[in-house]
Amino acid sequence: CGDRIALTPPMGWNSWNCFANEVSANKVKRAADAMVKTGLINHGWTYINIDDFWQNHRDAEDTTLRGIFRDEHGYIIPNSRFDNMKGLADYVHSLGLKIGLYSSPGPWTCGGCAGSFGYERQDAESYARWGIDYLKYDWCSYGNVIDGLPENDPYTVSSLSYKGGDKLSTAIRPYKIMGDYLRQQPRDIVYSLCQYGMSDVWKWGDSVNGNCWRTTNDITDTWASVSQIALSQDQAAAYAKPGNWNDPDMLVIGTVGWGHPHKSKLRPDEQYLHFSLWCLFSAPLLIGCNLEQLDAFTYNLLTNDEVIDVDQDPLGKQAICVQTIGDLHIFEKELEDGSSAVGFCNFGLDSVDINYRDFNKLGVAGVQMVRDLWRQKNIATISTAKEALSLKIPAHGVLLYKFSRVRKN
Ligand code: GLA
Repeated sequence: CGDRIALTPPMGWNSWNCFANEVSANKVKRAADAMVKTGLINHGWTYINIDDFWQNHRDAEDTTLRGIFRDEHGYIIPNSRFDNMKGLADYVHSLGLKIGLYSSPGPWTCGGCAGSFGYERQDAESYARWGIDYLKYDWCSYGNVIDGLPENDPYTVSSLSYKGGDKLSTAIRPYKIMGDYLRQQPRDIVYSLCQYGMSDVWKWGDSVNGNCWRTTNDITDTWASVSQIALSQDQAAAYAKPGNWNDPDMLVIGTVGWGHPHKSKLRPDEQYLHFSLWCLFSAPLLIGCNLEQLDAFTYNLLTNDEVIDVDQDPLGKQAICVQTIGDLHIFEKELEDGSSAVGFCNFGLDSVDINYRDFNKLGVAGVQMVRDLWRQKNIATISTAKEALSLKIPAHGVLLYKFSRVRKN
């Protein structure tokens, strides 16, 4: 049993939503530079994660990107845009940041680049040799190889602490293999499973050494996507703990979209709700936008330390919805200091104006100090047995409050 890692949810940046198949070492360096220059680094933002397309592509139009996939010993050869992976990792580390990579357990990644199937050991060794700190491991093309697995495959479900049927064993197998190889490396590598929540990954992710796991399909910068994901996280909540995080996918704020870069289509209030909920969920926080084009609004969303503290709370609980009043969904997260972070989230199109009295539903009692975390301001001291809290929540918006007990009555 090795060291425990990712004791709070990882925070960083991922190349996919802004660069996709055009990611390059140069763009990654510039993202790392921007992480430092903007000051994001001072608020806990740490990982610079390269997603798909650092590997060679099976049928790239640019023939230099269709190069040799692996050397004669099976070690992967990055594409021509990443000619010195170790140098890139050293550079990112020299800035005080960490670096991540992406792969898939099938022969090909989701984008059609070389995957890890059959070369998991060599890949884990390469990651460690280059100095990689984080691996996002997808699922694509693994489904096609399942039929060819040997009958006496050593990675059957019986070798796992989580017991399930054959189908489950098939879904778990590739993650177990890579998880074992990663943990054999002389390096801490955060292991992020990206199989969209299949087979209730939150129940077995820990048993394959996973640190976080996607709970959903790919997010998009639309209210439909964010609200649907937000309202489906409760089922996995009980499994979140230090070292194990449910991942509702990346943050869709700032300038996103490769090919057609645009400001997130989420309205400002929707972005507040999105970020607040991801913090309440103890989600890995991965910025998906171009860090060189951070506007003031996005920068402020990403640098409110009291809000980030909700995500990074060392107790590692995940908020659940404790009450709904019409379109108002109230999420509560217990914090290490005994206080509660509460998100009053309005999923409706009309603003909500109420006098709130149901403090027992939030699990808070006695006299409570109520602090507005976005505004970093105490807004009321309230005797929960006698008084009401007046709340006005904009359409698709949020109030993110912290309740701390002052005295018993
Ligand atoms: C999948 C993942 C995305 C991204 C792409 C890369 O769709 O869910 O986050 O990594 O693959 O091809």
